[in-house]
Amino acid sequence: MKTNRWISTFCIGSICMTCGIGNLAGAVTPVEARVDSVLRLMTLTEKIGQMNQISNTEELTGQQIEYFDTKELIKGGHVGSMLNVSGAEQTRRYQEIAVNDTRLRIPLIFGMDIVHGFKTISPIPLAESCSWNLDLIEQSARVAASEATAAGLHWTFAPMVDITRDPRWGRVIEGAGEDPYLGSAIAVARVKGFQGDDLAAHNTMAACAKHFAGYGAGEGGREYNTVDISEQRLRELYLPPFAAAAEAGVATFMTSFNELMGVPATGSSFLVRDILKGEWNYDGMVVSDWSSVAEIAVHGVAEGKSGAARLAVTAGCDMDMEGHCYVSELEDLVRRGIVDESLIDDAVRRILRLKFELGLFDDPYRYCDAGREARETLSAEKRDAVRAMARESIVLLENRDGILPLSNRYKNIALIGPLADNPDDMLGSWCALGNGKNVVDIRQGIEQAVGESATIHYAKGCDIESDDRSGFPEAIRVAKSCDVAVVCLGEDRFMSGEGASRAKITLPGVQRELLQEIKETGTPIVLLLNNGRPLVLDWEKEHIGTIVECWQLGVEAGNAIADVLFGAYNPSGKLAMSFPYTEGQIPVYYNYKNTGRPYEPEMRYVSHYQDCPNEPLYSFGYGLSYTRFEYGAIELDSDTLVEGNTLRVTVPVTNTGNYDGDEVVQLYIRDVCARVTRPVKELKGFEKITLKKGETRSVVFELSLPDLEYVLADGRRVWDPGMFEVFVGGNPDEVKKAEFMLVAK
Ligand code: BGC
Repeated sequence: MKTNRWISTFCIGSICMTCGIGNLAGAVTPVEARVDSVLRLMTLTEKIGQMNQISNTEELTGQQIEYFDTKELIKGGHVGSMLNVSGAEQTRRYQEIAVNDTRLRIPLIFGMDIVHGFKTISPIPLAESCSWNLDLIEQSARVAASEATAAGLHWTFAPMVDITRDPRWGRVIEGAGEDPYLGSAIAVARVKGFQGDDLAAHNTMAACAKHFAGYGAGEGGREYNTVDISEQRLRELYLPPFAAAAEAGVATFMTSFNELMGVPATGSSFLVRDILKGEWNYDGMVVSDWSSVAEIAVHGVAEGKSGAARLAVTAGCDMDMEGHCYVSELEDLVRRGIVDESLIDDAVRRILRLKFELGLFDDPYRYCDAGREARETLSAEKRDAVRAMARESIVLLENRDGILPLSNRYKNIALIGPLADNPDDMLGSWCALGNGKNVVDIRQGIEQAVGESATIHYAKGCDIESDDRSGFPEAIRVAKSCDVAVVCLGEDRFMSGEGASRAKITLPGVQRELLQEIKETGTPIVLLLNNGRPLVLDWEKEHIGTIVECWQLGVEAGNAIADVLFGAYNPSGKLAMSFPYTEGQIPVYYNYKNTGRPYEPEMRYVSHYQDCPNEPLYSFGYGLSYTRFEYGAIELDSDTLVEGNTLRVTVPVTNTGNYDGDEVVQLYIRDVCARVTRPVKELKGFEKITLKKGETRSVVFELSLPDLEYVLADGRRVWDPGMFEVFVGGNPDEVKKAEFMLVAK
């Protein structure tokens, strides 16, 4: 068979090369030896071909800047990777061209944005992050990986680990919110979920930490916009999840579209060459974002494609995604001595290493398994995992009137709003091959949950975004005729994600007006929100006593929401990103600095607004339960922590309410006096526990030096002896407090 002959060619090549490198052979791993053996066979053109990634033109996830004949490019050895190809059959077709029709038969690597599922779509990543359940998040990525790999994919462009404090930015949906500690833990969970322990296993895929770096700090929350932050903030806030992903062995990194302090990230030697590949010693592969190599010239720091290619390859960007700059320019740049071939070799080595690690040289078709694809796609097991993830992603924002969970005394339930009977918008942005027909929407979920015990009366009321009020009368009539109105409002799935910044983040269209009119009927309201970002909900918070943040929960949305509404699951989500009172407050976040003039009521010359509180409407870490958790006093095993030792922080937590429930116990610290100013609270630990009603459990955290260090602008991690405050609670604003001294040995 052709495949076998192909494998033997490489085996022989590898063996010869291993022998050929003599005394170095013992110092390199077998993969390195095999990589070298291939590299030595390659012409410059073939090497540069490996650095080129092109999209399947039928499934574009960005703007195509040039027309080309995909198959001819592959045959010519000009393509190392494709994106947006999927399905066991389609991937096999392209792989056959690379393996059968090119001189060296190097297999292609197929990548796609498997951000929250392939077809069994799970909640948007921001929602999953609100579960604070790292095991479930890891499992969710594993579900996605096993389904996507069955469809021939090797590589996902996820997780996005961009920290952001700006809900106007549409891409907040893809990340883990505003906190570097939580963001790092979630980054690791996702990397582990996608990659497992063995990249070559048939159900794991290479992950990609993106977008490196600072993309979440775009001015004004405007997509692709300028980023200019201090190096201290970069290192303290934006880089930690990337460092954590690198440490966890993430196979690839993606650069970002933005400039950072005057240099486009894709051409930034400071970011890629110095920090990632230098300081962090990262040996994985770096891909550009879509056409971001070419955009270096548009930013205005390079002349044309040639200048852009030179900057990007020098910075350490190994693969050019849909920019067509490497493939058209690098050969000439090398021949003219402008780019050293060793840079090309380094990039190609990283690409080949990944292909070896994925097992593609052993069997280029190992992931193209139509049988597994048919068995695994949308399997009941996967849907169950996604449902478990979805219900833990829900955040109960208000339950002032105690309406939830809905008891069976509500016999007539009004179901109103543009998101109530709407499968497509449950999928969220970046939903790969997700399809509304596989979604259990809210109406279906609720109808199935109540069965014969209640009647659901549906009225759409209005569209998500229009000024058409013609549906109001029917919605009001339905609300009046029922015992309770479940009102489903929010955003459609295109209002967040890439290219979807919004300057106003209230409920779009006339949705708030609809809610106001339903409120007038006097029928109790349960407001369900489906949105891809934190919204401005000032009016809603003041006037609606029951609010549930349901995000965009994927194919099991309706079931998960029904689980929470009727009490089959007691909500436990805590926000991973703060909700502002108003857009004018942005950025607003929990880990702010004290300033020299901290807020004091009634004082004018202190840091405050005249027309709005300083704090968010709903803070990071906030979320309610149907039960209540009471925190006892913090016990420290010592009032000093000596450098090198560990401090135990113990807190009893009691479930004093009427339901069993899960609680995210959160630990924050404050470094009272340091060389640079420190936030008033910083998350440094959390544990999600389950408590039966009446049960008490002592939660123990351990603090040691690494938790108390911080980063200086030059990258040094330092600590200062002195007083620290430690806080434990169910959110950063309701905490118990203790103090200890950190002392040098
Ligand atoms: C996005 C990336 C994505 C890539 C490929 C770009 O526009 O910024 O996050 O991975 O497209 O689809």
